[in-house]
Amino acid sequence: MNAAVRAVVRSALALGMKVQGVQRAYAGLAAGELRELGARDVGGIIQRGGTVLQTARFPEFKDVGVQREALAQLKKRGVNALVAIGGDGTMRGAAALEKQGFPVVGVPASIDNDVYGTDMAIGVDTALNTIIEAIDKLRDTASSHQRAFIVETMGRNCGHLALMSGIISGAEMTLIPEQEVSPEEVAQAVREAYARGKTHAIVVVSEGAKYPAIALKEKLNAMKLEVDLRVTVLGHVQRGGSPSAFDRLLAARLGVAAVESLQRGEHGVMVGLRAREVVGVPLAEASTRQRQPDMEYFRITRMLAK
Ligand code: F6P
Repeated sequence: MNAAVRAVVRSALALGMKVQGVQRAYAGLAAGELRELGARDVGGIIQRGGTVLQTARFPEFKDVGVQREALAQLKKRGVNALVAIGGDGTMRGAAALEKQGFPVVGVPASIDNDVYGTDMAIGVDTALNTIIEAIDKLRDTASSHQRAFIVETMGRNCGHLALMSGIISGAEMTLIPEQEVSPEEVAQAVREAYARGKTHAIVVVSEGAKYPAIALKEKLNAMKLEVDLRVTVLGHVQRGGSPSAFDRLLAARLGVAAVESLQRGEHGVMVGLRAREVVGVPLAEASTRQRQPDMEYFRITRMLAK
């Protein structure tokens, strides 16, 4: 997100615009927490995780009255367009402000990769790199002790992170919200892996799957699975850390595209990446639809776990 903030600020300044940064997302916007940002204010942040502008969960922003307070703050400060960087909730807020006549361009940033209209949101690649690093480390214990590990990834109700992690970490099985897999199937996959001579097994479970990691472990233990099981819930480590090269580049491209879109007078869109090209997607679509993971990856995971 910092790389995106930097790209927005620097490209806007390059085009002769002035920029104000909104602290704490829509919560700060409604409370008038804005400050002018110059080129130096966004120096030294490209390599830092999180966001220097801070963020906040703010369900109150669904309220039209609260949205009007935000619009009043923008008007009071002479702001005439907004770049909203974030996930699906951010896009819903952006669409609501646009609907009320205020020009907004969205930039997708969420590790969940559930934002409709972009192949990748900013943050996904960095989170995936964190996950595989963690699983590679877990594998050392798993194979030394001949254990099976159930690793739970984030994603809210989207299985993208888990699906990708399953493939790139060599998991036996991946459980995601979009496709139900029974504990019996998991048990069979683990047993078969050991029967084929494997010394360990990895099962990746997405947040939002029918059986979260701990519940799955209990089910498998109840089935008397002959393997020593351990659970690791990765949690918020997936959301931190220095952004990957891919994410920095994506943030630069989308940040610049958002500003250039506003300069052309095009708003009410989210800028996204489709087949390597930067495209504009109507906010009305990006805020109401959810990106679905490619189930082809599910098949590939199973095929490669031999
Ligand atoms: O949307 C990103 C995400 O990390 C989800 O994967 C997860 O469900 C949620 O946020 C966690 O939210 P919080 O940090 O508010 O607990």
